Amino acid sequence: MKKLVYKHPPAIRWFHWINVPILFVMIWSGTLIYWAYDPYKIQIGDTVLIQFFPDSFYQFFRLRRRLAEGMAWHFVFMWLFMLNGLLYVLYTLIFGEWRYLVPNRHSFREAWQVTLHDLGLRKTAPPQVKYNGAQRIAYSAVILMGFGSLLTGLAIYKPTQFAGLTGLLGGYETARLEHFILTVGYVLFFFVHIAQVIRAGWNNFRGMVAGFEVQEDRSVVSPQPADPQP
Ligand code: HEM
Repeated sequence: MKKLVYKHPPAIRWFHWINVPILFVMIWSGTLIYWAYDPYKIQIGDTVLIQFFPDSFYQFFRLRRRLAEGMAWHFVFMWLFMLNGLLYVLYTLIFGEWRYLVPNRHSFREAWQVTLHDLGLRKTAPPQVKYNGAQRIAYSAVILMGFGSLLTGLAIYKPTQFAGLTGLLGGYETARLEHFILTVGYVLFFFVHIAQVIRAGWNNFRGMVAGFEVQEDRSVVSPQPADPQP
C-alpha cells in the first residue's frame, strides 16, 4: 500500500521556486553589464585557454550594448534576491529547518559515498534521509554563496559608501572578480542540481512542488493468502 509522506513545508517551496526566476534575471542582467567591460580570461603566457565570453556568445544571446538595461534589471532584482534569501535563512533558523541543511560530522564521509554511488563505483545506496551528506554540503554552500554575492555586490555597487566592505574583500577589482566567480559557481551548481533532480526522479521533484512524496507503507501487513484446505 502507498502512503503520502510530508517532505517540504510550503514556505521552503515558495522561497525555493521564487529564487529560480530571480537568480535567472540576476545572471542574465549581470551578463549584460559584464559585456561593457569583460576582462576575464584564463591564459598561460600568451595562449588564451578560456575567454569569458567570446563575441559569438554575446551575439548569439543578443547581449551587446544593453548595459543600462542590464543595470536597471540587476539593481531591482538584487533587492528581491536579498529579501527572499534573508527570509529563507530566517525561516530555517526559526523553524529548525537548518537542522536538515547544515552538514554534520558524518556529512563529508557520506558525501564521498554518495559520489562513489553516483559514479557507479559503489553499490550501497546513500541513506534515505531528507538530505544526504552531499546535499547538505551543496545546499549550505549555495546559501553561503548567496551571502557572498550580496556582500561582493554591495562592495562594487557603492564602493565609496561601503569603502570598508570593499577594502575587506580585497578592493574593487578583487570584489568584482569574486562576484563573477560566485556567478560561475551558481551556473555549475545549477547543472549538477538539475542532473541530481532528474536522477532522483519524479517523486522527489514532486516533493519540492507539492510538499509530499509517495512511499510504500511497510507498516501495513498485506493479507496473506489462506492455507489451502486439505
Ligand atoms: C529549475 C530549477 C530547479 C529545480 C528543478 C530544483 C529542484 C529541487 C528539488 C527537487 C529539491 C529537493 C531535493 C530533495 O528533496 O531531495 C531542491 C532543493 C533545493 N534547491 Fe533546487 N531546484 C532548482 C533550482 C535551484 C536553484 C537555482 C537554487 C539556488 C541557486 C536551488 C537551491 C536549492 C536548495 C538550497 C535546496 C534545499 C532547500 C531546503 O530544503 O531548504 N535550486 N531543488
